[in-house]
Amino acid sequence: MPIEWNQESREFHLRNDRISYVVRVLENGWLGHLYFGTRLTEGRSYAHLVPGEFSGFDNRVGEPVPLEYPSSGSGDFRIPAVAIELPDGSSVLDLRYASHRTLPGKPSIAGLPSTYVEVGGEAETLEVTLADALAQIEVKLLYTVFRDRPVVIRGARIVNTGTTTLIVRCAMSASLDLPDSDWQLIALSGDWARERHVVRQGIRPGRQSVSSLRGASSAQHNPFVALARPATTEDAGEAIGVCLAYSGNFLAEVEVEPFGTARVRAGINPEGFSWLLEPGAEFATPEAILAYSAGGLDELSDAYHRLFRERMARGSWRDKPRPIVINNWEATYFDFDEPKLLAIATAAKEMGIEMFVLDDGWFGRRDDDSSSLGDWKVNTAKLPGGIESVARKVEALGLRFGIWIEPEMVSRRSDLFTEHPDWTIGIPSRPRTESRDQYVLDMSRPEVVDYLFDALSAILGSAPISYVKWDMNRNITEPFSPTLPAWRQGEFFHRYILGVYSLYERLTKAFPGILFESCASGGARFDAGMLAFAPQAWTSDDTDAIERLKIQWGTSMAYPLSSMTAHVSGVPNHQVGRITPLDTRAAVAYFGVFGYELDPTKLSPEDKAEVAAQVAFYKRWRDLFQRGRFHRLISPFEGDRDEAAWMTVADDARTAVVAHYRILNRPNSGPERLRLRGLDAAASYRVAIWTAAHGDDEDSPAPIELGGDVLMTAGLVIKGARMSATLGDFRARLYVLEAIP
Ligand code: GLA
Repeated sequence: MPIEWNQESREFHLRNDRISYVVRVLENGWLGHLYFGTRLTEGRSYAHLVPGEFSGFDNRVGEPVPLEYPSSGSGDFRIPAVAIELPDGSSVLDLRYASHRTLPGKPSIAGLPSTYVEVGGEAETLEVTLADALAQIEVKLLYTVFRDRPVVIRGARIVNTGTTTLIVRCAMSASLDLPDSDWQLIALSGDWARERHVVRQGIRPGRQSVSSLRGASSAQHNPFVALARPATTEDAGEAIGVCLAYSGNFLAEVEVEPFGTARVRAGINPEGFSWLLEPGAEFATPEAILAYSAGGLDELSDAYHRLFRERMARGSWRDKPRPIVINNWEATYFDFDEPKLLAIATAAKEMGIEMFVLDDGWFGRRDDDSSSLGDWKVNTAKLPGGIESVARKVEALGLRFGIWIEPEMVSRRSDLFTEHPDWTIGIPSRPRTESRDQYVLDMSRPEVVDYLFDALSAILGSAPISYVKWDMNRNITEPFSPTLPAWRQGEFFHRYILGVYSLYERLTKAFPGILFESCASGGARFDAGMLAFAPQAWTSDDTDAIERLKIQWGTSMAYPLSSMTAHVSGVPNHQVGRITPLDTRAAVAYFGVFGYELDPTKLSPEDKAEVAAQVAFYKRWRDLFQRGRFHRLISPFEGDRDEAAWMTVADDARTAVVAHYRILNRPNSGPERLRLRGLDAAASYRVAIWTAAHGDDEDSPAPIELGGDVLMTAGLVIKGARMSATLGDFRARLYVLEAIP
């Protein structure tokens, strides 16, 4: 049993072979935190970790007593996990242990995405009920521990057990009190076209946070943070991850208080949030996935990768090889007709590509981005035979067919806006801010969700559609819903995302065979919550190979390769104008769900042959690229930022693909070695350089046999003493490793 209750010391010990999480009912009934880290011996008490009897903060005001779900107002001046306004306007709580139970498996959360179990005995959940008799509130804290994953999944349910309405002002998914603050905070921050860059900084006294108030998890900050010891590297040292399964406004915050301890909290952003809790009602937080690694960031990421791939993603596409896509966006933008699309599909098919995705512009009167969002009916001026005709012709060519949609939006110039102007988010007395010439639909209204479900079901059912790219291209301004009373406007943002989740839930249930990809101006809603509905996401609109090194490296901190769509696009690159070799563009895009975002009819015969070779190569190693164990080797964020390297290894360590990227060439530099990870030290590997480019790389030696031990200790020699200066910039080199039987 992974959850142990020690009646005598009133301790819960959640554990598996890798981690322990220990909490204790303190003397006054509050729930205290004792430990989260490497596995501890079972059957022992760890009560000494918080010395002294604790009967509340009486005469001990401000002491850093570690608590599991702290509130404020009775002596704890740190950031709270919960704040509830009581009928008299006060908000002091006294939440004491009332009962607990353990549940097999893991309960789901109504309306919210969550991890799940499939096999009996895979996980166990502890539910501890805390109660405030005076306030008539119960808080149920949930902790799930899996048998073999270094994660603890937390969440809270707040129940109004009284007879008067309460207002929840803050309800974090988790709060974690750490005994010291010798940590650095790692966050994934950026903006459009440079999402999830790794930012790592020491924490200092006071509060530091990342958050979103945009209505989406955002490109600016991701709902994932990690704490790493200053000495922690990719392959050594302690790290703790906190990741929210939530796609709306979030907060992830750390506070270092004067005694040098650190409190971490994560959940729905309390800024502007409130939730009216009527008698008998319950409010459930999204879940927070806490992970622990004593083996560096690599191991921390691996815990998230496996969990999200195996127990957050769901549906028929979860474990299936994902198809290689050609998307017409950068090839045509809005300027296409059926013959043009079929020419692209035909050329793509010749090169072995498997899925054609028709991007923006197929509906309403949409010839640019200023109209028609909301009118999910085919644009017959462009496609006289409708979606069905294109889809059937694409299928006849031997490719599957997919389409782009942006359900949550409405253009001012659209039939939907003319008919239902009130469905648009905004304050009736104020102007609405436009962005990309569009408004956001009020997804908190069930009739809006119903309309979208019907309109989109009609399209998806009308033709052989196998793939949907669900976009979301602007953030919410003037947040307000006329259907909510004044005192419920604080619920708006959460209700919005619940509406999005419910539409996703209904569409994925109604069309179980369709592969959904989420997207938001690139990767502006790339989060664990979305992965429950769409197992993959468009990583970024920035498809430049060099920019992608940083974006994919950062994204991989929390999210698996199977969730990252990565396409080869044309040059000069449409986002940064950079010209990189076709070989390099593919060498970056292989590490994810591969595809193309260019016009294949415009490629030279040599380039077509190269693309065909790339496609064949990806198919050969697809399982490694989508489901292999990913190891980050050389960071594009560190050192002189002139190189990067990573690799993916099969779980049985028999095969691996390693990539080394030279960003700017270095003249007359010395020999270089790359230390690999995750191989079988006892095995011998055949190491071959792979290139789809015509003509041989003058520096590529014939395949050689090397031991796994030497590759991981001394390293792979990636460059001899001298290298020709003619190789140029933006170069990549791929090595395929196969264990010799
Ligand atoms: C967003 C997406 C792009 C493309 C366009 C279409 O920017 O990220 O991939 O689909 O919208 O308008």
